Amino acid sequence: MAGRLDGKIAIVTGAATGIGSATARLFAAEGAKVYAADIKEPGAELAAAIKANPGSLASARLDVRSEEEWAAALEACTATYGAPNVLINNAGIGSSHKPVHEESVEKMRANFEVNVIGMFLGMKTVLPGMMAAREGAIVNVASVWGWSGIKNNVAYQTAKAAAVMLSKNAAVTYAPYNIRINCVLPGYVDTPMSRTVTDEDAKMLMEFTPLGRRAEPEELAPMFVFLASDESSFVAAANFMNDGGMSAL
Ligand SMILES: NC(=O)c1ccc[n+]([C@@H]2O[C@H](COP(=O)([O-])OP(=O)(O)OC[C@H]3O[C@@H](n4cnc5c(N)ncnc54)[C@H](O)[C@@H]3O)[C@@H](O)[C@H]2O)c1
Repeated sequence: MAGRLDGKIAIVTGAATGIGSATARLFAAEGAKVYAADIKEPGAELAAAIKANPGSLASARLDVRSEEEWAAALEACTATYGAPNVLINNAGIGSSHKPVHEESVEKMRANFEVNVIGMFLGMKTVLPGMMAAREGAIVNVASVWGWSGIKNNVAYQTAKAAAVMLSKNAAVTYAPYNIRINCVLPGYVDTPMSRTVTDEDAKMLMEFTPLGRRAEPEELAPMFVFLASDESSFVAAANFMNDGGMSAL
């Protein structure tokens, strides 16, 4: 049976766990060749999927903050599967939930290094090949917290807001090359990152979500399939909330 991502060669960053793992696994199930990259080792679910499907799913180390590691990842992906025509810039770190006067410069820098510079380097690395091929789909992962204002959490929120504009800037610049760049803004999703919040904050976040609950990572992955596939051939420079309605409040 034809997969929705047949012919796609995708680099997915932050693929070890959470949203990236769910996306890498669904991509492989939909026929893509997936280079699942992360700074840490694959989690159990991704490791099992790689074992079951070694021809379509490979894992590799990539620190998205390093231009050299990006160059090596591009080379390795191209050698393994061919030149990537899809990039999912999903790697991210959270913050310490602090307001401006309490947040450290180090935490601000760390958030921008991964959540903004990492995304920038990913696009910088794959764009020349996509421009030459005049084909490509890039999906950047920001956050509903880079869109709606909430109190505190300044490092994450400002970095994710920058990621939204980085995505839009690149989208309008590279659309003439038939490269579609879109941005996904998740709400509260149950992943290792979000499990760092207190029980009280978890309750508050779910109450603050019109659907009244958090999402499973598997509920995010189908949106990435759509945006990476030819089904979204006229979708570019758009922001997609996947947040249970949170951003409407
Ligand atoms: N979970 C949520 O509620 C939520 C909400 C909005 C946005 N997001 C975003 O979704 C994305 C995925 O996060 P998640 O919730 O699945 O959490 P997660 O912690 O499961 O996944 C993030 C992954 O990024 C990787 N990573 C961190 N720094 C890296 C680096 N320098 N190089 C390469 N990989 C690195 C981590 O190792 C991890 O595997 C992130 O960009 C996050 O900001 C998550």
